[in-house]
Order: sequence, then C-alpha cells, then structure tokens
Amino acid sequence: MNSPSLPQPRRFMPAGPLRGRIRVPGDKSISHRAIMLGALAVGETRVTGLLEGEDVMATAAALGALGATIYKERADDPWSIHGVGVGALLQPESALEMGNSGTSTRLLMGLIASHAITAAFTGDASLSKRPMGRVIEPLSRIGAQFTPSPGGTLPLMMTGAPVPVPIEYRLPVPSAQVKSAILLAGLNTAGITTVIEPVPTRDHTERMLRGFGARVEVEESGGTRTIRIHGEADLRPQAIIVPGDPSSAAFFIVAATLVEGSDLVIENVGLNPTRAGLIEVLRQMGADITAIEPREVGGEPVADLHVRHSVLRGIEVDPALAPSMIDEFPILFVAAALAQGRTTTSGLEELRVKESDRLAAMATALAAVGARVEETADGLAIDGSGGAPLRGTTDGRIETHLDHRIAMSMAVAGLASVDGVEVDDVRPIGTSFPAFEALLEQARA
Ligand code: S3P
Repeated sequence: MNSPSLPQPRRFMPAGPLRGRIRVPGDKSISHRAIMLGALAVGETRVTGLLEGEDVMATAAALGALGATIYKERADDPWSIHGVGVGALLQPESALEMGNSGTSTRLLMGLIASHAITAAFTGDASLSKRPMGRVIEPLSRIGAQFTPSPGGTLPLMMTGAPVPVPIEYRLPVPSAQVKSAILLAGLNTAGITTVIEPVPTRDHTERMLRGFGARVEVEESGGTRTIRIHGEADLRPQAIIVPGDPSSAAFFIVAATLVEGSDLVIENVGLNPTRAGLIEVLRQMGADITAIEPREVGGEPVADLHVRHSVLRGIEVDPALAPSMIDEFPILFVAAALAQGRTTTSGLEELRVKESDRLAAMATALAAVGARVEETADGLAIDGSGGAPLRGTTDGRIETHLDHRIAMSMAVAGLASVDGVEVDDVRPIGTSFPAFEALLEQARA
C-alpha cells in the first residue's frame, strides 16, 4: 500500500436504505490483464474504465520498469499503453514493488519466466506471507530460476529462461493466477503450452489473449478444461473497455439486500459466469436481484443489477461454486450472519492464503459484532440473526489484517448493526476500490 503510513480506523454506522443508481469501478482482474497484454503488443492499446486501484497501479509501474510506456493525459481519458512486443521485455533496474497484489506478482512472474531477464519482487507484509510455490513450480519446469525467501515467499529473485520449454501442466489447486502465469509464459515459448484445469476458474486471460490475436484453444470435457496457447505470438494492440468489477459490486449487492427499504441499481457489472457465483448463492438464499439489459462489453457479459431489500434464508453453499465467487466469501459471511437459519460453507481452504486468512479473520470479526460463527478447517458455519441487526463493535476494533475485502465486508456489517462497526484500518480498501466510501455515501444520500 502506498497510502498514508498510519492506520486509519473508521466506524461504519447504520443509516438509511441504499437507493438510486451507482457505478462501481473497473474489474481488477481484467485491468491487470489489459495492462500486461497491452505491454506485449507493439503499438498503442487504449483502455477505458481501467481500475485505478493500488494493485493495478503496481502492475502498471512494473511494466513501465520492464519497458512499456503507460499513461493517460487527463483524468477522464482512457489509459494508453505502448507495448514492446512479446519477447522484448527489458531488464528492470530495480526491484518490482508489488504492494499488496498477488495477481500482479504471480502473473508478472509468468511473463518474466520466458524472457531472459532477472527481476526481484517485493511486497507488503500481507503479500510477503502468501505462497508463491504454486507458480514457482510450473515456471521452473519452463526453465525459469527462482530464489524465494524461506517458505517460497516474497521477497524473491527470478531469472527467466533464455530458451523456455513448453509444458503441459495440471493445476493442483484451482487458481486463475497460476493458470494465467503459465499461459503468459507460453506467449514467448516456442510450441504449445497446455494448462489443464479440473475445476474451471475465471477465464479473463484466455478471452483477452484471443482478443489480442493469440491462438488459444479451449477444450471442455466432463468439467475439465484444457487450454492450449501457441507460443511466439504476435499480439495486436486493442481498444479495451473494462466492465465494472462484480467483486466490488458484491459489497453493494449485499448492503442493499440487508438494509431495509433499499432499492439500488448497480450499473455495468461484469457477469462472466466464472465470476458470478455470489449472485447465484444470494438468489438461492432469497435475495431479490434482477439483471437488466444483459449485453456484451469488450468480450465480457455485463448487465445492470437491480437489488431490493429482502430477508435471506440460510443454505448449505455448494463448494463447487467456490471458484466463481472466491473473493466474495467475506461478504457472503456477513449476509449469512443476518439470514434466517444456518449457512454452512466448505471446501474453502484457499481462503486461508488470500490477503489474509479470510476464514479466521471473518470468524473473529463476526463473533466480535455478536454473530454466531463456527470455524472449521475449510469453511464457516453461521447461525444468522433472522434479520435482527448485529450488535456492532462495542469495544475494540475489527482487525482487517491489511485485507481490503475484510475491511469492506465489515463496513457493510456496520450498516446492519445497532452501534456501528469500527474497522482498524480503511487504507487497504485503496488496493481494489478507492471510491468505496464515497459510493456508500452516494447510495445512502
Ligand atoms: C485473481 C484470481 C483469484 C482471486 C484474485 C484475482 C485473478 O486468485 O482471488 O483476487 O485476477 O486471476 P486465485 O486464482 O489464486 O484463486
């Protein structure tokens, strides 16, 4: 995080319903990828609606250090990216500072893995705890060399392969970041690089690679996806429109569902099926969410979402939906804490290695505001209040552990509480959703 150095605690108080129309910022995953592929296409790529959060800016700064030119003239202009071409990334002069961003780190490690350059990666306290072995392992098979910190973490040094080898790799954990790292390495690898994913994860990389002119084949059989990229690709610069981020919209979808009298339209939300799991689960719980004017923007499905307050029922969440809502569990747990009856989740071990251990952080946070929560090895079981407001924080603050999604989830819990919820630090929100608090004010005005 680059924002002010002292933690900024904030109390989120209950207030009136959420109403009117809002627009959430651009999708974080798509924004990272637009900059990366733009940086590898010779010529100018223009990106409208790029998320200007700290994570994406970390990607932009790194690609600047690797030779691309990335800028915009005026606040409302699209971003311009002048790329260097596949195979032409330059040796960076100093360490690549990744801040809080796992996506920047893992995808850039993939890009560098097939370029004969050496780079150092550093990150904040949260990122420096996250496992990098999952990308180091396949990228080493391609021929890249790594010197990570003990435990396979940042800070680390890597040197890309002078002659990268195409691999076939079956993902041991469902991870779009690992898949993308390998596909991006495959761009500058002669031959065909293959990734097999037994559980489908977000497919923005595949979609955008195709949009830039790379040859990518996807085969589906019995739920398993096999993705092949033909290497030594020539990417053509594109004009990209980034849809609104469903993972940011999630906080407003749940807030409007929980707060009585709410009637909110969230415009231009990306509804790629590999990202839309939360909406399905909330509907199963009885939420009132309507997609208006479904359309396609920049190769991604998009709609406006009309959300009205409703009382939710607890359910057993199908673990098969986890990859399509992997970042939405913290806010789903808040919804579950207000539902009638019990909500159970399982198969969520991955949440323990996100920006924080999200199972432990949310179990502690929700218990602190009066919710009934049980933590298991791979999920939470929550007995909801049946719509009765949570107690809120009466003494102490919620620990957000440098995790933007814990901060925003507990902010929403504050709206549905008696006394408000105080979080210890709102700075991490800037990594993905700098306008969160301003939009909350707008929706409650
Ligand atoms: C992301 C993939 C997900 C997600 C992260 C963004 C991406 O991580 O949690 O916020 O842009 O590819 P994993 O692929 O590691 O599950």
